[in-house]
Amino acid sequence: MPPHKPSIGILTSGGDCPGLNAVIRAAVKSSERLGYDCVGFLRGYEGLVDPVSYMPLTARNTAGILTQGGTILGSTNKGRFSATVGENQRVDLDPSLLEAVATTVRQLSICGLICVGGDGSLTIAQQLHEHGIPVVGVPKTIDNDLGATAFTFGFDSAVACATDALDRLHTTAASHERIMVLEVMGRHAGWIALHAGIAGGGDVILLPEIPWSFEHVCRKIRERDSEGKKFTLVVVAEGAHLPGAGTVHRQDAKSEAAGYYQQVRLGGVGEIVTAELTRLLDREVRTVVLGHLQRGGNPTTFDRVLATQFGAHAVRLIHQGQFGQMVCYRPPNIESVPIAEAVRTLSRVDPGSSAVQAARALGISFGDATELASPFAGRCGDDGPSRG
Ligand code: F6P
Repeated sequence: MPPHKPSIGILTSGGDCPGLNAVIRAAVKSSERLGYDCVGFLRGYEGLVDPVSYMPLTARNTAGILTQGGTILGSTNKGRFSATVGENQRVDLDPSLLEAVATTVRQLSICGLICVGGDGSLTIAQQLHEHGIPVVGVPKTIDNDLGATAFTFGFDSAVACATDALDRLHTTAASHERIMVLEVMGRHAGWIALHAGIAGGGDVILLPEIPWSFEHVCRKIRERDSEGKKFTLVVVAEGAHLPGAGTVHRQDAKSEAAGYYQQVRLGGVGEIVTAELTRLLDREVRTVVLGHLQRGGNPTTFDRVLATQFGAHAVRLIHQGQFGQMVCYRPPNIESVPIAEAVRTLSRVDPGSSAVQAARALGISFGDATELASPFAGRCGDDGPSRG
């Protein structure tokens, strides 16, 4: 019998997103070319421990998955490996669980384990690394909230979905002269709301990063009314803070009863915004909660390219023995950073960023007072450079 080839393991953990299969395919194809076998663990980290569950991955059995949404390996964001409960709150995994993972890795001759996940899943990867397990991380999340990478794959696809929803809402809102409130995902970051709001012609964008008030939202709607624009599109990020209150959560008592930790589930702010606008304006207001549609479906071309590069680079890191690293996109290059560093820095929308400035310049309201003063206040040439 020929000796076993060293194997590269891969798992997808946390909420799914378009592009996971593209990472798997890229990792498998590039592993094979370097002489490794590949195994995929099922249902995220759960597949690493009793009952250990995995499938051999080959170029043949992963053919055709580049374009598919979801993950052929399955994923979960709860269970024994939940390592974050809130922002920057780490829960240490049980040492016996870490030891069980180490045993599986040894028994299957895994020389490197690719953990594909968001900040919570990468916090677990870091703990495996600290336990001596050879891991590399690949960031994924529709939320685009990891500071170490300019973009995560999944984000562009989610924005495309939310933009499509706004395009559709536009025509029906205009026909019925209604105010439509679209609640989008993103957790504590407003990236999806901001990008979809700009791309989909939103009139008001409410973000976790910019404090807002109903007074200013109503003012914008009345201003549009007076200009003869009888409808308004409001995009609200699920993590937007209600004025004078906090974020809106869904009740989820189940996880506590089951004895595992889970991050709070955001959601519901859209309904509250709708109820309050109806009361304040005495107008017809409707809510659409886009929810998991943003996570499903085929990845966009951008996400396919990014995910493919991430998968290939993760294999390269393993081949070079660079463990404890996470691949990242620093345009125009794919690079890597220590996972520990990557999970520490969450990325949020900068209220002074050029995207926000451009939106304000177009008259998009963020529900705050700033739109009253134009960011380009002053006439052309006032206080500007001398034209000699
Ligand atoms: O992190 C990705 C994400 O889709 C968030 O935008 C959202 O808040 C959360 O996951 C939803 O998680 P679940 O799949 O548990 O409903």
